Amino acid sequence: MLLDVNIVQLAKFLNSAKRITVLTGAGLSVASGIPTFRETGGLWNNYRPEELATPQAFIRNPKLVWAWYASRREKVANSYPNNAHKVLAKWSKRFKGFSLITQNVDGLHERAGTVNVIRFHGSLWELKCWIPCSASPKHWKDKTVPFKRIPPCCPHCGGLARPGVVWFGESINPTVLKKSFEASRCDVFLTVGTSSVVNPAALLVSEAKSKGAYVAEINPKRTPASEIVDLSIKGTAEEILINLEKELLAQN
Ligand code: OAD
Repeated sequence: MLLDVNIVQLAKFLNSAKRITVLTGAGLSVASGIPTFRETGGLWNNYRPEELATPQAFIRNPKLVWAWYASRREKVANSYPNNAHKVLAKWSKRFKGFSLITQNVDGLHERAGTVNVIRFHGSLWELKCWIPCSASPKHWKDKTVPFKRIPPCCPHCGGLARPGVVWFGESINPTVLKKSFEASRCDVFLTVGTSSVVNPAALLVSEAKSKGAYVAEINPKRTPASEIVDLSIKGTAEEILINLEKELLAQN
């Protein structure tokens, strides 16, 4: 019953908001069969970030790093957007001032039809030249699964290509960072399915709050953001967002 009251309250705020921003994390894709990073069975339980997701790791062993990214690409290629992605895709088309910032690199928001996704940590489906060579663009799309050879090459210079994702120790693309902090100026800021421990993405929650947004969290577990938000809804993204969508439509 308490859950219903929270959903009704959040739906009222969403329906009257001029600008809505949603920040998503790995929890969004759990119902699509993609593991999170920090939970039991999560990616960082089985692998050490410093061996797979840093520039130093890539220099040491590009084949190993690429084998890991290739297996993640394969898993995502065989998965589908779930109800949480689908609801957010509808919102991106229905609400005028809607922004979606995702830390996820799986591309499932785009596959669900979300428009103008702000990809905070890049994409599994983009590659960059490692050098980078002067002939290559900053990054390019590549949806090949599986790769003919690992590690894949830059088609422009024949040198090593790297995944178009942000690694530990690397900066967020300044344009993406600017867009994200601009989007934190909104009426309702919703953080969904993220442990809120990785900066600067996690800082967006307090940033939105300090700019006057009504801030809500959807997560089955408590996170550091739970201390800051106005409303914390305990539950999975796929279940809560479907109920929220029903309530939004019922109120109209
Ligand atoms: P985490 O693995 O840190 O956290 C996943 C969150 O999802 C946890 O808080 C879970 O409670 C929650 N969760 C699990 N199942 C859920 C469900 N069905 N619905 C909603 N929430 C659920 O993943 P992120 O917070 O996304 O960065 O991690 C942030 C960044 O850390 C990632 O983007 C990645 C990683 O290192 C890079 O690779 C740069």
